[in-house]
Amino acid sequence: MPKHLILDAAIIATLVLPAATAATQEAIHYTPATHVFRIDTPAVTYAMGVNPAGELQAIYWGAPLAPADPIPTPVEPHELSGMETSTTITPYEYRAWGGLNFTEPAVKITFPDGNRDLVLHYVSHKIDRDGPGRDKLIITTKDISRDVFVDLIYTVDPATGVIGRSSVISNHTKEKLTIEQASSATWNLPHGTDYTLSYLTGRWAAEMQLQQQKIADGTTVLESRRGSTGQQNNPWFAITRLAPGASTPSPDEEFGEVWFGALAWSGSWRINVERNQVHDIRVTGGYNPFDFAYPLAPGGSLSTPVFYAGYSGHGIGEASRIFHRFQIANILPQRPTPRLRPVIYNSWEATEFAVDEPGQAALAEKAASIGVERFIMDDGWFGQRSSDHLGLGDWYVNKQKFPNGLKPLIDKVHALNMDFGLWVEPEMVNSNSDLYRAHPDWILNMTGRPRSEGRNQLMLNLARKDVRAYVFNFLDKILTDNDIAFLKWDYNRQWSEPGWPELGPDPEKQKTVYVEYIRNLYSILAELRAKHPKVEIQSCSSGGGRVDLGILGFTDEVWPSDNTDPFDRLSIQDGFTYAYTPQVMTAWVTDSPGSRPTGVTSTAYRFLVSMQGGLGVGSNLNHWTEADFATAKNLIAAYKTIRQTVQQGSLYRIISPRNGSEQSATESVSLDQRQAVLFVFLHTTSLNYPYPRVYLRGLDPAKQYRVTPIYGSLKKDTPETASGDYWMHHGLDPDLTGDFKAAAFKFEVQ
Ligand code: GLA
Repeated sequence: MPKHLILDAAIIATLVLPAATAATQEAIHYTPATHVFRIDTPAVTYAMGVNPAGELQAIYWGAPLAPADPIPTPVEPHELSGMETSTTITPYEYRAWGGLNFTEPAVKITFPDGNRDLVLHYVSHKIDRDGPGRDKLIITTKDISRDVFVDLIYTVDPATGVIGRSSVISNHTKEKLTIEQASSATWNLPHGTDYTLSYLTGRWAAEMQLQQQKIADGTTVLESRRGSTGQQNNPWFAITRLAPGASTPSPDEEFGEVWFGALAWSGSWRINVERNQVHDIRVTGGYNPFDFAYPLAPGGSLSTPVFYAGYSGHGIGEASRIFHRFQIANILPQRPTPRLRPVIYNSWEATEFAVDEPGQAALAEKAASIGVERFIMDDGWFGQRSSDHLGLGDWYVNKQKFPNGLKPLIDKVHALNMDFGLWVEPEMVNSNSDLYRAHPDWILNMTGRPRSEGRNQLMLNLARKDVRAYVFNFLDKILTDNDIAFLKWDYNRQWSEPGWPELGPDPEKQKTVYVEYIRNLYSILAELRAKHPKVEIQSCSSGGGRVDLGILGFTDEVWPSDNTDPFDRLSIQDGFTYAYTPQVMTAWVTDSPGSRPTGVTSTAYRFLVSMQGGLGVGSNLNHWTEADFATAKNLIAAYKTIRQTVQQGSLYRIISPRNGSEQSATESVSLDQRQAVLFVFLHTTSLNYPYPRVYLRGLDPAKQYRVTPIYGSLKKDTPETASGDYWMHHGLDPDLTGDFKAAAFKFEVQ
């Protein structure tokens, strides 16, 4: 053991108190005598330290502890028996695969001599004070014999207590080594048998479905092996511990402790949630080790994505609100004060591929008449794109559809006082395209093997320099040649045969595509934004296939689902908000009847569903009646008065649409508590039961709030003005009966 790690027993016994106080504004502290690191924010304390064996060990993560609370040097748990040594149950902060370790390792390496043992010990650390409350801790660890270094990086957002963790693995040996597994972090929770795991699953047109299961011994794997984030699992988790005495197994919106987190990565990812043989909980996440390899030449390094995680002592509702605030202030490209989402019109469901100048111009006129602020032309404007079988990759304007280029349409849209957005799918080609005919080697493929198509398209290998240059250049040209305010960046298939033959036959090298592709994706987005700062971008992937904190660092919003049926959308939006802020949740009103016969849901119902996020319209306006236009105009005007509250306020999921519930309701409260908005939905009335009384949350109890209907009405005896306490404790009764009915109300401080 290195000499500096041999701790004097007397020093260990003298518990030195951390210097953390709110006044210092310094969130991260180190106590040399105990070798303990503490992260302290008003809402969260996180502690870990170097144990006597020289390894980093988790100590505490949860509600804030007093600065004076003693946190001693961590000691490994007592050995249960020779068969179950302490290292098999120690809550390591970031454990390599080596020695006696059987839990999920954070990192695994193979050396050219066949050695695969890696044991990381603390070497040193530094704390960068990047401004008030902006501390960054870098702990350097090193293998016990080889010059392999792993830096563990910690950042913290003092306002929310959300901690970001990542690692950098560096090869200082004289030979190449291969990283086979690289996680960003392991999060440890104390042993217990009363934890519930929440996570999001889905498929095309049914994204963001909340799953909840009791955590039992064993491992639950959340992952994507698809090269990108995926619709099937989203890289987010929440773990709740039941409040003492609570009887219900499902996590409560307002009560109980919650630990939650999400990976900032848009490629293949994995989050392992383990409960080991002594009921300790560990969550390890980062690159998906499936088919993974990253060779490091001497001097080379690999950094992992950031794994963000936070804590709420007030239920999963508060956990979401914390994460929403964190994302707005720390993740989004326009952080900390992103622009409010404009009301948009999108042509896709109206015209599909049959776009042309007169048709789009006519839609634009109608869109402008109801108060739309951004007109977006979707797929079909380029190459020979008449269906999803051809043209993808050929990014020139189709002359038959737009004889004079895009300018006349864009000018028309501007004259109507809207800005203009355009659909692109930069990472893809149809095999029937000029681009593919010219560059068949540009796609992900394995030599001599079939090239599987998804939605009739192949994937460009964005990891290649020439492909990156092509993609950046065509996008840069479109944005330079045209006055465009917004790109809908689509991505409509997942990876197959992910080979990179250009690199030669070495499979390890080829596997770096999983990392390099996404890095190039991010770097293109970053470069485009820097060069065209006014352009906003949406991440779309056949709906919500690429929604994660990685892409959200470069895109202003996401498209949650191709399913625009308003009733289905309620549960998709509900699931979405567990992990992501409504600020990025685009929602269109469409004509799509979904699984319901046309006409069952009213225009107003559809609007109220979509007004819970970034409102858009995707209907074929040529088919609308005068009454539809009037409803739309009114509700869009009303939306503009509440959108700041909806997009950036505090969201309360009052009644969940999940589990066959007959109603659902959400409430958003502005951060200054001066405005609240309530949306209520009645899916079906059975047995003539009344709508459940709604109790608002998050209001200022003493202030007087006046209620005004946005749409619909309250029962007659409802007062117009009452205190926050009244609305929260007496509650109110929406006047709703029937099937697929909706209402919305605004509450404002007098
Ligand atoms: C995907 C998107 C849709 C639309 C089509 C266009 O399915 O999710 O919104 O843009 O592509 O082809």
